[in-house]
Amino acid sequence: MVKLKVYEYPHPILKKKAQKVDKVDDELRAFMDDMLETMYAYNGCGLAAPQVGISKRVVVIDIAREDEEPNPLYMANPEIVWKSEETEVCEEGCLSLPEMRAEVERPASVKIRYLDYDGNECELLAEDFLAVAAQHELDHLDGVLYIDHISRLKRQMLVKKLEKSRGQKRG
Ligand code: NI
Repeated sequence: MVKLKVYEYPHPILKKKAQKVDKVDDELRAFMDDMLETMYAYNGCGLAAPQVGISKRVVVIDIAREDEEPNPLYMANPEIVWKSEETEVCEEGCLSLPEMRAEVERPASVKIRYLDYDGNECELLAEDFLAVAAQHELDHLDGVLYIDHISRLKRQMLVKKLEKSRGQKRG
């Protein structure tokens, strides 16, 4: 397996709407394996294909804690088919915006239809943190980042902080 390069904000691929995949074949499975490996390497709990430079509708998620068995979820062409009216606020981060976090309000539960690792059509009712992770990753497929859900002022502060931390790393 290969660790892929993660593209960071403001790379333009993160703003692009990703294309549906034709089918889940061995080539796509190998790519999903690499995505999962990359996500684990960065201690992430979700990763979308555009974040590794591939504009396809593919995400991997694993919300298991460190002391739990890995529980990877692979989704091709995922779609939200139902959202709860009830919302919840949760702090989110993103591998494309390293070290930044912000509170985001989203529907508390969602139902997702997608193709799994074997290409079977599945439906999943995601609740609690899985609902947050799934909506965050699916947003990436439409070129939306979590900072697009917060106020302009908060977004500007976050981006400024990100630029500053990058400047410090360069020395
Ligand atoms: Ni993200």
